[in-house]
Amino acid sequence: MAASYDEMIVFAGTAHPDLGRRIAYELDVPLGHVEIDRFHDGEVYIRFEDTVRGKDVFLIQPTGPPVDVNLMELLVMIDALKRASAGRITAVIPYYGYARQEKKDQPREPITAKLVADILTTAGASRVMVMDLHAPAIQGFFNIPVDHLTAQNLISSRVQQKGLTDFVVVSPDEGMAKKARRVANVLGMPLAVGYKFHPEHKATRVTHLAGDVKGKTCLIVEDMISTGGSMMAAVDMLLEHGANPDIHIAASHGLFTDKAVERLSRPEVAEVLVTNSLPQDGASGLASLQVLDVSPLFAEAILRVHKNESISGLFRSR
Ligand code: R5P
Repeated sequence: MAASYDEMIVFAGTAHPDLGRRIAYELDVPLGHVEIDRFHDGEVYIRFEDTVRGKDVFLIQPTGPPVDVNLMELLVMIDALKRASAGRITAVIPYYGYARQEKKDQPREPITAKLVADILTTAGASRVMVMDLHAPAIQGFFNIPVDHLTAQNLISSRVQQKGLTDFVVVSPDEGMAKKARRVANVLGMPLAVGYKFHPEHKATRVTHLAGDVKGKTCLIVEDMISTGGSMMAAVDMLLEHGANPDIHIAASHGLFTDKAVERLSRPEVAEVLVTNSLPQDGASGLASLQVLDVSPLFAEAILRVHKNESISGLFRSR
């Protein structure tokens, strides 16, 4: 039988304190106090100000940009919790950095998503909670429990609320096809799938669309937007295939690096929908941006983990 812990305590690192506060608010618990500082040479210093001995600790820290800084801070926090005799440590990582390096595409490349799983476990994480991993198989990189949440239902509900009808759900590549199909099924809309490839490092093209988008409004479903290059390649491909210049974009994670805001600020892009798995301050210049709040989802999942209840009931799937 799984161990149970009387008391839950929630902390947030510096990666996304607003999300930490929101999750704590939803759980109706105060956010725990932790001192996070930097030495002059840049090393991170952590000290938990609340006692954690024997407690069920949830540590909220998405590992978005600056990825290495946020990841190291998370590792050091986990180490401090372990040494302070926390009962159980759940690393809540709404966005899991390095997920795109989950296999070797070329000889002599690393598999960094696996390395990150190993160091989280070595640091002392008892379990992790993530959302919409770039590749679901990353769950298997861990030998500790992984709760894999999804924002798909939130995205589908939002599209339904907007009253969007008669559109095509588009997966920009075969990797996203399964997730996009679930969204299309929930929304009762047809699916089109593109073929995406990288002609060179950091360059993206989407070609060979399977499905009909001519004269249709499209909803592109993706796991993440970083530079916006993949999305723009998908938008160009849809327009070439006769789609309406009324393209909606939904991604679980909005990183908005490089010139993403500029790239996405196109008149054909009616809406860019992301979640607050990462802070969205940097994308405030994007007029079409809509941000969905995942804090109720994470709060409910955290509560269920704490109470040893199933979290699969949180998700509809077809
Ligand atoms: C790649 O396969 C991912 O699903 C995303 O499409 C991609 O990583 C997004 O990055 P960017 O916005 O820089 O194209």
